[in-house]
Amino acid sequence: MKTKKIILFASGSGSNVENIANYFKLRKDVTICCVLTNKSDAKVIERCNRLEINALFFNRQAFSKSDFILNMLQSLEPDLIVLAGFLWKIPEAITNAFPKQIINIHPALLPKYGGKGMYGMNVHNAVKKQKETETGITIHYVNAQYDEGAIIKQAKASIANNDTAEDIASKVHQLEYEYFPKVIDEILSKQ
Ligand code: GAR
Repeated sequence: MKTKKIILFASGSGSNVENIANYFKLRKDVTICCVLTNKSDAKVIERCNRLEINALFFNRQAFSKSDFILNMLQSLEPDLIVLAGFLWKIPEAITNAFPKQIINIHPALLPKYGGKGMYGMNVHNAVKKQKETETGITIHYVNAQYDEGAIIKQAKASIANNDTAEDIASKVHQLEYEYFPKVIDEILSKQ
């Protein structure tokens, strides 16, 4: 049995990274090669140290002004690249090299509340401001346009009148923890 390899990208806290790592911890058929981050002080690095996962920091030069990260990804031959709270747009050279092999999680029901600047609390504040009665998550393939790749899975949560943006964020995170690892598992099992 060939072990499937995942590479994760994250920019912030990394609670999804930790949840995914825990989900696959006892699995011999799936391994997390490394977590790549564009923030040298991201909390995800601390989590990776605790979880004994390799974490690597890269800058813009390595990511989009040269082929450094592209070459690294190609040499690692991942089965799936997972954006788990990653905030930079993926360069076309990378999306072209890994068609249908990069997935992202977005903390809203796309196509609503997507696009540049729509990440993390910005999304939940906008959802609250619009007095939406529901929100959710979208897991989708990544192409060269922000938040526009084919949708793989959406899940919804209802919003009460008195929910704060933080309450909304917490409901969305619960959905992410429940569905993201399962969707990754399903995609890997079909490959
Ligand atoms: C998650 O809610 C994820 O959906 C969101 O960032 C958060 C990261 O949380 N991603 C985006 O907004 C991408 N546009 P985490 O660092 O605790 O996993």
